[in-house]
Amino acid sequence: MPGPPIPLLTRRALLAAGASSLIAPAFAQEPRLAALAAASGIVFGTAAASYELRDADFPPLLARQAAMLVPEYEMKRAVVEPRPGAYDFSGIDTLMAFARAHNMAFRGHPLIWYAANPPWLEDAVLARRDEKLLTGYVTALAGRYRGRMHSLDVVNEALADDGNGLRQSFWLKVFGPSYMDMAFHAARAADPAALLVYNDYGCEPGGPLGDRVRANCLGLLDGLIARGAPVQALGLQSHLFAFGQHVDQRKLRDFLAEIAARGLAILVTELDVSDEGGPSDIALRDQAVADEASRYLDVVLDNRRTATVLTWGLTDRYADPPQSLRLKMTGWRYRKFPFDAGLRPKPLAGALARAFSARRPA
Ligand code: G3I
Repeated sequence: MPGPPIPLLTRRALLAAGASSLIAPAFAQEPRLAALAAASGIVFGTAAASYELRDADFPPLLARQAAMLVPEYEMKRAVVEPRPGAYDFSGIDTLMAFARAHNMAFRGHPLIWYAANPPWLEDAVLARRDEKLLTGYVTALAGRYRGRMHSLDVVNEALADDGNGLRQSFWLKVFGPSYMDMAFHAARAADPAALLVYNDYGCEPGGPLGDRVRANCLGLLDGLIARGAPVQALGLQSHLFAFGQHVDQRKLRDFLAEIAARGLAILVTELDVSDEGGPSDIALRDQAVADEASRYLDVVLDNRRTATVLTWGLTDRYADPPQSLRLKMTGWRYRKFPFDAGLRPKPLAGALARAFSARRPA
């Protein structure tokens, strides 16, 4: 079944890639990721937050390297609608203004999620069981940026963590699985142009849990497709582990073939490679991160339905602090992004550059 057309590389993105390649890199060995990706038919981008744009040295790197932006947290409902009906789009608008000024595309994340909601929402949904608490928000947010979004993560992380069925969120408890259909139909009505995405994690690694999550994900997508929900793409968050459960290339390849056979596009939406559990030697950690990314990208970029690769940050400088107290006590810092805290390219940047260069253009 032929899938929906994947939005071609926007002219702006191609110009950005071309234009940015004219800017002298700050570091001689700095690869030009957006340009290399564009030459192979891929849009490369990254997550960002408006506070990062206040650093003097980061925005030029971001403009050189990315052809697409996604808000890391400023499009979460806790930020956008802190009180019922009182919307704050300022963070998104700041990021979108930067993207437009640098000929970048923009993607929205997320519309409907079980997490990062304002405290009042869950109580309201459980009490009032009013569909408008879902469709009204999707309409307000997607409608505001109508025609300006490359894609939208309409539903985020609806699968259960253990790979068995759906996550028992308040959305599911009140509206049943049709909450996802409601979200997709409302998003399509609000923005006829954006590619509508189901976004989740856990489909990447090998092992029995990865097997269950992949099967569960296909079941969720088949249900949406069978009920006529306008889902157009799978967003693979792609949170990988350099020292944990690695990617199983054969299983991943087979899974992506199933996604493509359903006519869906494939978006890498939040790529990072955790180095937690690695040795203290920085060079060894960095190389292990790059190697796992290469194993992953070799498979993902070999599928012709893959349209984007976004990392969940460009530099270690802004990486979220480690959750574990043990790591916090040691002052341990994540090294999971392409550029280090000093904005120098790391082996992961080289792995991305090689993967894009090796991909046959569309
Ligand atoms: O709200 C403050 C803001 O006032 C302040 O200016 C800013 C800078 O210090 O920090 C803001 O706080 C935190 C924000 O991250 C920025 O660090 C929020 O309290 C915190 O909730 C937010 O966490 C984000 C989380 O999603 C929830 O939105 C993470 O950065 C972000 O990496 C994470 O991203 C998720 C994806 O959306 C879905 N997939 C998994 C991924 C990683 O957990």
